[in-house]
Amino acid sequence: MNVLIKDIKERDLASDALILPLCEGASEDQYKEIASSLNGLLGKVIRSGEFGGKHGQLSLLHTMNMIKPVRLLLVGLGKKGEVSSEKLRQAGGKTLSYLYSIGAKDVSLSGAYLLSLNQSPVPFLEGGLLSLYKFKKYRKEDADVKGIERFTLIGKPDSALSNSVRWAVATTAAANFAKDLVNTPSNDMTPTALAKTARSIGRGKVSVKVLERADAGKEGMGAFLSVARGSMEPPKFIVLRYNGGKGAPIALIGKSITFDSGGISIKPGEGMEKMKYDMAGGAAVLAVIKAAAEMRLRVNLIGVLPATENLPGGSASKPGDVVTSVGGKTIEIISTDAEGRLVLADAIGYIKKMRPKAIIDIATLTGACSVALGNEAIAMMGNDRALLDRLKAAGDEVYERVWEMPLYEEYMDYVKSDIADLKNSGGKTGSLVTAGYFLKEFAGDMPWVHLDIAGTAWTEKDRPYTAKGATGIGVRLLLNFLKERK
Ligand code: BES
Ligand code: MN
Ligand code: ZN
Repeated sequence: MNVLIKDIKERDLASDALILPLCEGASEDQYKEIASSLNGLLGKVIRSGEFGGKHGQLSLLHTMNMIKPVRLLLVGLGKKGEVSSEKLRQAGGKTLSYLYSIGAKDVSLSGAYLLSLNQSPVPFLEGGLLSLYKFKKYRKEDADVKGIERFTLIGKPDSALSNSVRWAVATTAAANFAKDLVNTPSNDMTPTALAKTARSIGRGKVSVKVLERADAGKEGMGAFLSVARGSMEPPKFIVLRYNGGKGAPIALIGKSITFDSGGISIKPGEGMEKMKYDMAGGAAVLAVIKAAAEMRLRVNLIGVLPATENLPGGSASKPGDVVTSVGGKTIEIISTDAEGRLVLADAIGYIKKMRPKAIIDIATLTGACSVALGNEAIAMMGNDRALLDRLKAAGDEVYERVWEMPLYEEYMDYVKSDIADLKNSGGKTGSLVTAGYFLKEFAGDMPWVHLDIAGTAWTEKDRPYTAKGATGIGVRLLLNFLKERK
């Protein structure tokens, strides 16, 4: 979709539909110029009570050649005092999905009223762009649909607005890119396919190195390789570098289990098809690095995707096995289904040697994450107050909210093994935080934050601007965090 900013009178810009947002109780006077050309139509619809401005309400009017836009779409924003960026994202999502459904190709949004409320029109656009995402890979009739081709924001194209629009377009495209990777089933999104995708985003400003099984062995990645043993698909330990700034890099590690059957500790069959989304962390990291490079963010980044399937093949790891991780710590495998922390342990150990200034891992790590927080928040744990606070603030702004969980030293007892340095499962009790605690042991004194996205990376129902399926969670959060970082 082509997004433009134009300084023009609303009634003079030809389009399939002109979007006019309005709060509850607002009158047609908010759009005097348009109203005056419409022979009383706008006032009539509002005064009749047909359009009351409730949040998400839509009223479509045909303009019958009285003005250039073929239609007007009134969009309710709810109560004036309650308008927020998120309310606008939601309204934008609803609006653009509706316009898509009626076959509109060319739409415009009047920005003046939003500005009068001290709101930027950009979140409305953002919600719209996210809502238009559709996974089209496997059905011809989906692939053939064209959708909305042009969106014109009517307002003054100053540099602040242009930058903000450009940011919204790039970050929503990145989130939608991540959704595509996650929605792709595991037979097509293998570790090899993920490595190929990494190389394709790497052209130009990003360098990509892929460690094969033998290379990972030389690096001492016994934990990562133990997960890969049960599968015929070759594992890939993918490392990306983007250098746009100065100083030590920030390392982003994304859990990339392209399918998690549980291994020998096999999962119940019901719902197992969803375990293709166990690489949502890796998808987010790829999308973030791609967007950072495209926008030339002034940061240095390392991305790490430890990619493998977790299957119960004949050579699979078994409960009770002990493996040695990169730093030399030994791990007793209690459950082969607690594979995420195994691959992350080696990723953290590997990246620590490059002395990044911070490590952020993002992972669909525990079922307990959604037990605790439902599908509304990312669970966050870490050892660095400033980093935790910055991520929390970045998440609130984009409404990819994070909620901090504790890492009390008493949790050490839960992950102590009788025969090795650690065990990979402390059982059911506290399993969201004991997973975090396990990772903390590998981060050591390196500033580190863990984001558990198990509850937020997938949605079973359509949400205001996120369709059923992969959500692209973490992408906008991390990009917003990196933007402020400089
Ligand atoms: N990938 C799963 C966690 C998960 C579950 C993500 C449901 C999304 C939805 C992870 O590898 C896992 O199986 N975790 C186990 C750990 C347990 C064995 C300690 C869990 O949470 O049940
Ligand atoms: Mn698992
Ligand atoms: Zn998993």
